[in-house]
Amino acid sequence: MIASLASWLLSLTVVVAATPSPKTLSSSLTFLYQNDLNWTSATDHAGAILIEPRNNQAAISACAALSENLLSANGPHFVSDVTSLLSYLAFQDHYPAEQEYWIASPSAKTCRTVTKGAKVQTTSCQKTLPALCSQSAPYRPASDQDKDPKWRVTVSAEDLTVTGYRDHLSFRFLGLPYANTPERFTYSTLYSGSRKDLNATDYGSQCVQAGSTSGSEDCLFLNIFTPFIPKAGTPLSTLKPVMFHIHGGAFTGGTGNDATFDGGALASRGDVVVVDINYRLSTLGFLALPDGTTNGNFGIGDMTVALAWVQRYISAFGGDPARVTILGQSAGAAATRALLASPEAIGKFAAAIPMSNLVGENYATTYSLYYTIPQLQPVAVDPILAATGCNETDSAAVLMCLRKVDANTLVNLPTVARFVVIDGKYVTSKQLPVDGSSPAAHVPVVMGFMRDDGAAFIGYPQNTNITSNIASVLSSPSPSEVEASGLFPVPSGTNATLDVFNVTARITTDVEFRCLDQAAAISALNHDVFPKIWFYQFDRSYQTPGFDPNAPVCDAPIDAAHPHGDPSKEYFKCHSGELYFVWGTLGQFQLPFRDDNDLPFSQLAADTWSAFAREHDPNPSTAYLKARGYTSTLALVEKAGEWKPLTKGNDRALRIMDMPPRTASFQDEAQCKFLGLPFNYYG
Ligand SMILES: *[C@@H]1O[C@H](CO)[C@@H](O)[C@H](O)[C@H]1NC(C)=O
Ligand SMILES: *[C@@H]1O[C@H](CO)[C@@H](O)[C@H](O)[C@H]1NC(C)=O
Ligand SMILES: *[C@@H]1O[C@H](CO)[C@@H](O)[C@H](O)[C@H]1NC(C)=O
Ligand SMILES: *[C@@H]1O[C@H](CO)[C@@H](O)[C@H](O)[C@H]1NC(C)=O
Ligand SMILES: *[C@@H]1O[C@H](CO)[C@@H](O)[C@H](O)[C@H]1NC(C)=O
Ligand SMILES: *[C@@H]1O[C@H](CO)[C@@H](O)[C@H](O)[C@H]1NC(C)=O
Repeated sequence: MIASLASWLLSLTVVVAATPSPKTLSSSLTFLYQNDLNWTSATDHAGAILIEPRNNQAAISACAALSENLLSANGPHFVSDVTSLLSYLAFQDHYPAEQEYWIASPSAKTCRTVTKGAKVQTTSCQKTLPALCSQSAPYRPASDQDKDPKWRVTVSAEDLTVTGYRDHLSFRFLGLPYANTPERFTYSTLYSGSRKDLNATDYGSQCVQAGSTSGSEDCLFLNIFTPFIPKAGTPLSTLKPVMFHIHGGAFTGGTGNDATFDGGALASRGDVVVVDINYRLSTLGFLALPDGTTNGNFGIGDMTVALAWVQRYISAFGGDPARVTILGQSAGAAATRALLASPEAIGKFAAAIPMSNLVGENYATTYSLYYTIPQLQPVAVDPILAATGCNETDSAAVLMCLRKVDANTLVNLPTVARFVVIDGKYVTSKQLPVDGSSPAAHVPVVMGFMRDDGAAFIGYPQNTNITSNIASVLSSPSPSEVEASGLFPVPSGTNATLDVFNVTARITTDVEFRCLDQAAAISALNHDVFPKIWFYQFDRSYQTPGFDPNAPVCDAPIDAAHPHGDPSKEYFKCHSGELYFVWGTLGQFQLPFRDDNDLPFSQLAADTWSAFAREHDPNPSTAYLKARGYTSTLALVEKAGEWKPLTKGNDRALRIMDMPPRTASFQDEAQCKFLGLPFNYYG
């Protein structure tokens, strides 16, 4: 009876034991994982959680509170992983190079430590030393969201208490509400809900979007992936750079929950804090009416509120509010550019990476050249009013009517409002002022595109008539002028429609991405808009299966030796083809490495992007790469030489992101001039 009462009491203490936090452990929690991005062997690499100094018994208790033990010195990669992890701690001046750390001992009577070079030794149990706890939370691809309560961890962030969890790569806090749920067609405001105890173990709802019924208008959530949870009073200098990511999807789709952008790999590989946000989409995010208050850009407003949330709370999650890099691809790049000139956003970030921004002609126009509110009327508002029967004379009645329309119906109408507009508050200029004509954030920028970015935005030729196919992608100059110019030669390959596509894809890449993105960089340089600009072009790509237009043109050709494609063969390097590399997320989808270069290239891309977030320079330093044991990236960047920013004497410096990476110069200058989009377009 007494025994069973005792065991009942014991089980009760286990149940009510608080979720571990820096406060209960009297320690910051540093997540250590030597991530080589080879997801197929991720589980062979044991991570660790670093706990601040205490005696051996207290270290064992702290690990137990995390449902762990002290780290065991076994495991196939123990020596190399621990060597790199400890060397990186010393590099950061976190602990001295000769520091001893508690690890597990095979005997309860002795205590063991590990030090520099993975040297294991026995020592007095009473020493006060930092501890390496084991880290047993499993590696999980996106399809597996099973979470054991024992991986949970709690963070106190100002007025919030947030419980997230960890997996094999990082701490994760999902589905945090950053804004109050806004009334439809009004601007969101910073979260001030009465719920302060937040369960951040599951994604929040994605925003309402076409082609999916799972969205909600209550969707203003963000996800945080971090390698570091500081205790109160931790010096700001130990905080990590923040990568604030804005997803793409034409301003009509997408979500920050997309595993393509899962931040775990970048958090561990690059030692950064990743924030992925949702923002309102389509007509719910971008409708503007001429009523003086419904001024559009609700989605852009959401981003500025998320940035304000990050400024207020991110330090509790290990992020440095003074080192926030905003980044996004496609519509995410358009958003990044809008924020670069937004009075509501300037000051809330310190660097930017617009990737594959659409700028120029045809489909690209509106992403970079904004409508006024009156201009939106015939383009989107009238068709929406006609389709919903909301064409009332009184503007209040229009709004009331549109608020009653089912959200999914609204975003599935044939015409939707998916455009940034000049609203006078969030967006005040007709485009990013790369000519210095109005204020923009004076922050360093990395920008660029895929070599064949335009190939995903046109149809595949139905015939081999070059004249009519050119006419289908370009209104002027005329096809005969294009052909006569000799600037867009038709290759004489074995596949005649593919030869025609080579020309139409090149024209489209030039007019929708390359010419004006390059021109914008040159103009921004000449007008000192940004302190530094680095420009890239990806010549290696891994197309996302979910977005693979004109398949198989964007996919590496398959042969017997390369069942998943041979990237060394020629194919189109299309829109979105850089995402898996930059984010290191092939493992989220259990996608194979196609050749021996995919893995080192992914390491290079992740190391380059995170270096920019960390140091505002995309060239990871030799000292950093050496300290971390990132030998492959080190060899690649040493061979390639520095990726130089644009300078007035070298205003066309281009980094080709390929294997190996190399230095080049802006492409298609003659073509851009001929197309009326010269490199001096913005003056
Ligand atoms: C990745 O891990 C797998 C499985 O352990 C291994 O066979 C392969 O060689 C590794 N790839 C590289 C490039 O290290
Ligand atoms: C948090 O959410 C998870 C997943 O839905 C659930 O299992 C858990 O019980 C929740 N925890 C709390 C404290 O509500
Ligand atoms: C809305 O009504 C006005 C007159 O009341 C009319 O001029 C306009 O064409 C209508 N617009 C649509 C989209 O039906
Ligand atoms: C190719 O298309 C052009 C423009 O549509 C047309 O004028 C021409 O006759 C076509 N040529 C052939 C060989 O069909
Ligand atoms: C030409 O290439 C396209 C795109 O890869 C392919 O769909 C088509 O089958 C090829 N045609 C021939 C004749 O090989
Ligand atoms: C397009 O044609 C050029 C030759 O004009 C060739 O160098 C290039 O590799 C071709 N692109 C693709 C993706 O096949």
